[in-house]
Amino acid sequence: MSTDIYDVIHRRRDVRGEFTGAPIADETLARILTAAHAAPSVGLSQPWDFVIVADVAVRRAFHEHVQTERDAFAATLTGAVADRFARIKIDGVLESSVSIVVTYDPERGGPAVLGRHAIADAGLYSVCLAIQNLWLAATAEELGVGWVSFYREPFLRELLGIPAGIRPVAWLCLGPLTHLEAVPDLERHGWRTRRPLDAAVHHDRW
Ligand SMILES: Cc1cc2nc3c(=O)[nH]c(=O)nc-3n(C[C@H](O)[C@H](O)[C@H](O)COP(=O)(O)O)c2cc1C
Repeated sequence: MSTDIYDVIHRRRDVRGEFTGAPIADETLARILTAAHAAPSVGLSQPWDFVIVADVAVRRAFHEHVQTERDAFAATLTGAVADRFARIKIDGVLESSVSIVVTYDPERGGPAVLGRHAIADAGLYSVCLAIQNLWLAATAEELGVGWVSFYREPFLRELLGIPAGIRPVAWLCLGPLTHLEAVPDLERHGWRTRRPLDAAVHHDRW
């Protein structure tokens, strides 16, 4: 296990093609979920829930839906960009060991969520922080995580019986892997390159 925070941050990758499918020990999964649950949240609302999806039939059904959405996106592309996208793997739903769906409950901690009165999205930001904690903890545990967003929320709500009003935020594939790539997949496939930090830092005004 690697626990140096900067090392973990820089080793973390979005994993799609390197999952082995080997099982995850219960204690390891518990440590990762405990890390996710330790995230900061607006008004201490902790508006997240985690649905652990091990059922292969459910994952297969989700994967079919992802393929449909992949095709829908591919249909918007032409020429060299379409060719490039065709070579990119966008999920490891079937190859990973388990999936974790992270949801957002806007009612949690209400009606007066301290700090959210002016920025409704602060609840959603909190869920994303739990996801990042999960991602970094998994990386420290030598496991891979892949975020899949090629889905429609109503489909996923129906598939997992997520109550009305609760929003699925992420489908995360999780599991042991052969290796972590040093460079993001999208960069390796020539889709995009990373922006230098200098271009993102502003001083005093935008
Ligand atoms: C909100 C969000 C949604 C994403 N959805 C997908 C996805 O559907 N499929 C995929 O292959 N990667 C997805 N990714 C991963 C990004 O492509 C990846 O984070 C980015 O290319 C940088 O690579 P790295 O995470 O390995 O540093 C998603 C990432 C985020 C944060």
